[in-house]
Parts: sequence; structure tokens; C-alpha cells
Amino acid sequence: MRGIVDQIKNFLIYDADKEFYAKVFPDSVSRKDLMRLRRMNASDLSDVLTIERKNYQFPWGEDIFRDCFKAGYSCWVCEEQDTILGYGLLSFAVDEAHILNISVEPTEQKQGIGRKLLEHLIEVARGNAETIFLEVRPSNEGAIALYQGMGFNEIGIRKGYYPAVNGREDAIMLALQLF
Ligand SMILES: CC(C)(COP(=O)(O)OP(=O)(O)OC[C@H]1O[C@@H](n2cnc3c(N)ncnc32)[C@H](O)[C@@H]1OP(=O)(O)O)[C@@H](O)C(=O)NCCC(=O)NCCS
Repeated sequence: MRGIVDQIKNFLIYDADKEFYAKVFPDSVSRKDLMRLRRMNASDLSDVLTIERKNYQFPWGEDIFRDCFKAGYSCWVCEEQDTILGYGLLSFAVDEAHILNISVEPTEQKQGIGRKLLEHLIEVARGNAETIFLEVRPSNEGAIALYQGMGFNEIGIRKGYYPAVNGREDAIMLALQLF
């Protein structure tokens, strides 16, 4: 018990230290050092939904995020000093993990946050699943480049998976073997 308390104390002190040094010696701490990943909770939903609506033509509603909490899915935010920059959600079934959503505030994209979130979700899945799956729109070249860069391979197409303005759009299915 004492060991766990010490670990939590060390983590908090380390985090507080970084914020102190960032204020006093701004050049000594990189922006990435100040970003941290933590579990998403209901009080994050307003900020998360704002990003969700900016990023997707067919955004998830609050009910879907709440269903993910209820189902016990692994839901994370990346934040920098209380500002949420992005989020990612992962579900588990038997030996499989599934990335359900990964999204970065548009003004913060292309700075490594999506990769940081994806690396974290892969680490969470490792040890709990043999394979991690996801779907992506064929038109989403940036996301496809991110996933392929992290070792995901195309394994098939799901016909008419996504809603689209003129009906439905196919999804590319990608998978990453975790062992
Ligand atoms: C996809 C998304 C999560 C990527 O997040 P990000 O923070 O912008 O990505 P990163 O800065 O970590 O980029 C990592 C890699 O992804 C690729 N990438 C990301 N955005 C890209 C873009 N617009 N064009 C080409 N490649 C891109 C690059 O390979 C990049 O590596 P590099 O920086 O070494 O070139 C982000 O663009 C997003 O939120 N999009 C809207 C929501 C969405 O489409 N989610 C995915 C649903 S399947």
C-alpha cells in the first residue's frame, strides 16, 4: 500500500515540478513534457464534444461517449495544463482491442499529439489483446499515414460503414499485431 502511495506522490511531485520549471525557466521544459494523458471522465465531455464537432461531419453525440464509459471502455484525454488537446477511446473483446475514436483539436494537429495518443492506446492494449483493429475513411489520408507509420496494415474493406453526405462511405480496416 505504502509503495502505491509513494508512486502516486512521486508522479504528482514530478508533474508539479515540470509546471514550476515551465513557469520559471520556460526554455527548460518542452511543450510535450507538459502534456499528459489521463482517463476521460464525464466532466471532460463538454470540451471533448467541442473538438468532436469540429473534426467530424457526423460527430458522436454525448450519449455515445457516456455509453463508452458505461461499457468500461478505455477512454483517454491528452491535456496540457487543464486544456484538452485530444482524446482516444479503445474497446476490448476477448483477445481483440478496437480503436473507436482518436481526435485532436484542429488547431493543435500535426504536432505529434495524435501519435502520442495512438502510442498510448497501443500500450494500453498490449498485454490485454493480441490484435488491435480500427476503421478509417479512405479519404482520411492524414489518419491513414499516422496508422501506417505506427505499423498498422490494411486487412480489408467494410462496405458502407460510414454515413456520408450522399449515402454511405466504405471503411478501410487496419490491424496491428501486438506480439
Ligand atoms: C488523424 C489525427 C488524429 C492525427 O493527429 P495529429 O496530432 O495531427 O497527428 P501527428 O501530428 O501526431 O502526426 C503523426 C503522423 O501522422 C501523419 N499525419 C498526420 N496528419 C497528417 C496530414 N494531415 N497529412 C499527412 N500526414 C499526416 C504523418 O505521418 C505524421 O508524421 P510526421 O509528423 O512525422 O509527418 C488528426 O488529424 C485528427 O484529429 N483528425 C480528425 C479526426 C480524425 O479523422 N480521426 C481519425 C479517425 S479514423
